[in-house]
Amino acid sequence: DSPETVSPTGVPTGAAKTAVSQSGRFLTTAQGTRMRETDHSLKAGPRGPILLQDHHLREKITHFDHERIPERVVHARGAAAHGVFVANGAGVGVSKAGFLAAGTETPVFVRFSTVLGSRGSADTVRDTRGFATKFYSDEGTYDLVGNNIPVFFIQDGIKFPDVVHAAKPHPDREIPQAQSAHDTFWDFVSLHTEAQAHTMWNMSDRGIPRSFRTMEGFGVHTFRLVNEAGETTLVKFHWKPRQGVHSLVWEEAQIINGMDPDFHRRDLADTIEAGAYPQWDLGIQTFPDTPEEMFEGIDLLDPTKFVPEELAPVQIIGTMTLNANPTNYFAETEQVAFHPGHLVPGIDVTNDPLLQARLFSYIDTQISRLGGPNFSQLPINRPLTPVNDMLRDGMHQTAVHGGVAPYKPNSLDGGCPFLAGEDMNAYIEVPQELPSSRKVRESPATFDDHFSQVGMFFRSLTPVEQDHVIQAYTFELGKCYEENIRIRQLQSLANIDERLCAEVAQGLGLPAPAPTVTMEESATSPALSQIGETWPVD
Ligand code: HEM
Repeated sequence: DSPETVSPTGVPTGAAKTAVSQSGRFLTTAQGTRMRETDHSLKAGPRGPILLQDHHLREKITHFDHERIPERVVHARGAAAHGVFVANGAGVGVSKAGFLAAGTETPVFVRFSTVLGSRGSADTVRDTRGFATKFYSDEGTYDLVGNNIPVFFIQDGIKFPDVVHAAKPHPDREIPQAQSAHDTFWDFVSLHTEAQAHTMWNMSDRGIPRSFRTMEGFGVHTFRLVNEAGETTLVKFHWKPRQGVHSLVWEEAQIINGMDPDFHRRDLADTIEAGAYPQWDLGIQTFPDTPEEMFEGIDLLDPTKFVPEELAPVQIIGTMTLNANPTNYFAETEQVAFHPGHLVPGIDVTNDPLLQARLFSYIDTQISRLGGPNFSQLPINRPLTPVNDMLRDGMHQTAVHGGVAPYKPNSLDGGCPFLAGEDMNAYIEVPQELPSSRKVRESPATFDDHFSQVGMFFRSLTPVEQDHVIQAYTFELGKCYEENIRIRQLQSLANIDERLCAEVAQGLGLPAPAPTVTMEESATSPALSQIGETWPVD
């Protein structure tokens, strides 16, 4: 049960490589029957109506009628590439994952995306970018499903439908296609102030990257890694582009959207075709796995917070090179199915309530997007390791399972018994103590600070970058028609940074409100205020 073809670099290329369309001498029906021609329907005479018995016509039109599948509910527009990840061994101390052992080469498939636009929308919009990586490892497939921004809009996945409803185009006119400049978006982020952190990153130059090749990537959540000795470490993942981090300026982004809406996907495909393979170093920030799951006052389970690199430097554990374009956009880029729950031994999840909801959501959406529960059999989604599961039948089943007893233990089919007492390198969840046995819906108090890191991020930018942020808020809020929403967002800006608020308010022709909380009051992390106002982000 492995991909049909594997390139010399180990890149799984799938069935698309083997089935080159129209390569045979004769055109055939889907049943392999040779066709004389395909341009004329069977008719009752040259001027007569078409006959229902024309199987070729009906097969051709029916298949065409069903060529489209639903686009992703978010991250619909994307571009992808194959490559290889080579570990340097520095991650071995914290994780027993085999693909992190020094010198191990693991094929990867990476899909970059915008979040909000539809599949045909433009590339250089102001938005978050997805950065999803599938590692086809010797111990099964590991997916690192991240973004180019280290924080997220919400702290609990139960709000994901809400933030997406607010950020997608308005339901009446389906405007705007992808930009953040509309009332429901600003309504949401000004009412759910936990979203201010992510919004600030969107309004910064990070929201309009120059290229997929010049983006950082972040796993966002804290993960729990476990080493051979069973010791655990809390970790945040970072992708560092060797091309550097570069953004467009707003005017460039708007012009490019009109001139070449495929700018980012063209750039990725062209540079790979030219042999200028983009590379990223994979790094980790590590934190002691304490019962509090805090680091320097920062709650590691709060996905709206990041940990400054001054407090926890990023240690590089390997390098990824993207070296091959997909052969077929649909078979690979469109049908790839990432899932934060695709884990390998040595990598486990935490109780971050955003991550926990993601663990449910991806497989659920893929069952409808990819037409049933068997999408892991699609070439791009097949692991390189042999599959021996007990999943059977269902829509689009392509495996012909032998045997009669898909259950364990059984006394009929034999093979693969569970060997008592043997680890067999199986995936074993970290036996973590539950923090409480009391059911609650409340968040911890350490999730309450929605402003102090946001202000720090703004003040860490260079003056020209700060100007871009001010211009972005002014432009985007200027497109927000409801004055009460603009006023409420200004209140959040006042709590983030008084100068930022004053300049945006002036641009909007509105009075600047006074802050309702100060950084000292809101910050839960004394270490953050010690970093001062000039710490760099990179
Ligand atoms: C898709 C990242 C939060 C649901 C994606 C993709 C990325 C991503 C990169 C595109 C994958 C691809 O290229 O195919 C993230 C990050 C999050 C986050 C970094 C927060 C840290 C959530 C949450 C939910 C969610 C909280 C739901 C509770 C989805 C769904 C898709 C998706 C349904 C479409 C998947 C598909 O159709 O294959 N996400 N996401 N995401 N995400 Fe998230």
